[in-house]
Amino acid sequence: MRRQPQIQAAIFDVASWEPDAEFSVFPQGARAKDAVFAPEYPAEPVIVPGKRYMVKRSKRSYPDQFWAEIVAYRVGCLLGVNVTPTFAAWNSRTNQCAALIEWFYDDGHESFVMAGDFLQQMHKDFDRKLGTQHNLLDNMRLLKLLAQNGILESGWRQWWIDALLFDALIGNTDRHQDNWGLIFTRSKQKISCRLAPLFDNGTSLGHERFTNHVSRWTDIDFQRYISKGRHHVKWSLKDPIQGHFALLQRALEQWPDTREAAQARLNFSSDDLSDAVVDLLKLDAINPLSNERLVFMLHLMRYRFTLLRNLLL
Ligand SMILES: Nc1ncnc2c1ncn2[C@@H]1O[C@H](COP(=O)(O)OP(=O)(O)OP(=O)(O)O)[C@@H](O)[C@H]1O
Ligand SMILES: [Mg+2]
Repeated sequence: MRRQPQIQAAIFDVASWEPDAEFSVFPQGARAKDAVFAPEYPAEPVIVPGKRYMVKRSKRSYPDQFWAEIVAYRVGCLLGVNVTPTFAAWNSRTNQCAALIEWFYDDGHESFVMAGDFLQQMHKDFDRKLGTQHNLLDNMRLLKLLAQNGILESGWRQWWIDALLFDALIGNTDRHQDNWGLIFTRSKQKISCRLAPLFDNGTSLGHERFTNHVSRWTDIDFQRYISKGRHHVKWSLKDPIQGHFALLQRALEQWPDTREAAQARLNFSSDDLSDAVVDLLKLDAINPLSNERLVFMLHLMRYRFTLLRNLLL
């Protein structure tokens, strides 16, 4: 079930990578981003020559946030969910670090549509800014409709279980209506689509907590913090379950045939979690991943992992 992660030996300098004029400005979202093309002869084989990548910096207030996106990629691979290769990078001209994320669709033949674009069609008053009406029952209605019309391939229930499982493990609070979506392919015969990989995973892993504060946390502090964790999506407007674990449990009750595959995703040990990320400590960056930051991330994930195993096994 696990996916083999793409592992870099050194941080990538993207200063000389060609900027993509068409995609260089991203109005969507809160973090500064550009799109660039990888060189024809990249520094390491994990980079696809000539491919477009997103360079995504941290929020100003949390300079090491980009590491959360990279750690989330590694954890996604360990779970075996669909995540996009993500690396540590910097720009030697601007001295800024960023997450370097492979483009997840093929521009020539495919297009990406954020779920929010559909949900807004379904509810004319959909609050696009905060996504206050974002809920799984409506998401289900949308995906069911696309599947019934033969546009969306099957497996969307399992996709949502994967998303809820992954988000509960990393503590992601930001899977809003524009942080998931569909990739469309148009051929002469028909239009078809599939769910995009899980992207924008960096509002997670306790990135908003400063390590000098959390170093004093007791077990009770960890438990309190984790129990407050909320997903962005609610179960339904009538039944607004949002806690990471309660929501996953509700979805598993609704779709019992997804449970077995979800259980199989947790087939690793807590040591595997650290093994999946420890090499990141040796990457030499202006904003390195500190040992304290990684220890905190792992501590949070170990708690969440135990809760998930209790819930599923
Ligand atoms: N790897 C990728 N390939 C193609 N398009 C992407 C990729 N990552 C993101 N996008 C597109 O860019 C948009 C913005 O990216 P993303 O959601 O990662 O950042 P963000 O919304 O600024 O993050 P945040 O909300 O945490 O500040 C997405 O909604 C999606 O349309
Ligand atoms: Mg986003």
